[in-house]
Amino acid sequence: MSVEPLEIYLEEREVARGLRHDVRVGLTAHPKWLPPKWFYDARGSELFEEITRLPEYYPTRAERAVLAARADEIAATSGAKTLIELGSGSSEKTRLLLDAFARRGDLGTFVPLDVSVSALRQSTAEIAADYPALRVRGIVGDFTRQLDRLPTGGRRLVVFLGGTIGNLAPDERAGFLAAMRAALEPGDWLLIGTDLVKDPAVLVPAYDDEAGVTAEFNRNVLRVINRELGADFDPEAFRHVAIWDAEREWIEMRLRATRPMRVRVLDLVVDFAEGEELRTEISAKFRRAGIEAELGAAGFVTRHLWTDDDGLFAVTLAQAG
Ligand code: AVJ
Repeated sequence: MSVEPLEIYLEEREVARGLRHDVRVGLTAHPKWLPPKWFYDARGSELFEEITRLPEYYPTRAERAVLAARADEIAATSGAKTLIELGSGSSEKTRLLLDAFARRGDLGTFVPLDVSVSALRQSTAEIAADYPALRVRGIVGDFTRQLDRLPTGGRRLVVFLGGTIGNLAPDERAGFLAAMRAALEPGDWLLIGTDLVKDPAVLVPAYDDEAGVTAEFNRNVLRVINRELGADFDPEAFRHVAIWDAEREWIEMRLRATRPMRVRVLDLVVDFAEGEELRTEISAKFRRAGIEAELGAAGFVTRHLWTDDDGLFAVTLAQAG
């Protein structure tokens, strides 16, 4: 096996500075908000893995079905030598692609990039063990910032799965796709998973499950801030809220204060009124035309757009023009 030491593009110091910045900006804003990337410490990553197994959370299963059906076609069409995965987490679904490339025998390097050191340690070790022919280069980084440092050499396929692009605001999304295009050479490939617009009766329970795992995941961001910044949030005093914004076509997760609270964090005193909400995540849902338009605006040509049989989730293979 060939697993290389994790490449740290994102220093711990830098991560800490980013968290302090986001907390300062988000908790002094009206309404208050926090970016979703801070969910994913070791516990948050575990909770997310648990979410992917919930009966209500269809995206992981739907995306896996598309990948299982199309992996060989993706490998053959792209002919990639290097597979780069952004926000790789456990890379569990990516194995379907690695298997397809292994059948062709022509993939050289797998480069998973994630903010979570713990998730990367585990996934790189496991993948290197299971794919002996593969060179595995894990990168600790932020996919919105480290795009200019992607490995070069040979035809590249960048995969961005799970619908994670939906966690970016529309302007961030456009910036991200443009930066992605700028980081690639004409002819390189992008494989992107996007959750699709559907009945809110299906969407909302996926973000507000019966067992309360998503609620725990949501509150975990407060635990991260308590631990990393010495804040004194009482996570149990916040209620998990998931709402469908029909106009903007996204799910919004919030934490609602169940009583008035005063929280100390950094040099801030942050007051919550009873019922006040803190926005912790948007998860945008897409339509076919919108996916193609957004990719096109960034300089990508959509070659294939596949969905699962139930039309829940789309996987799009696009090429840098
Ligand atoms: C990280 C995009 C896969 O938005 O569906 C799951 C994160 N948040 N439940 C999503 C999440 C709440 C998730 N992705």
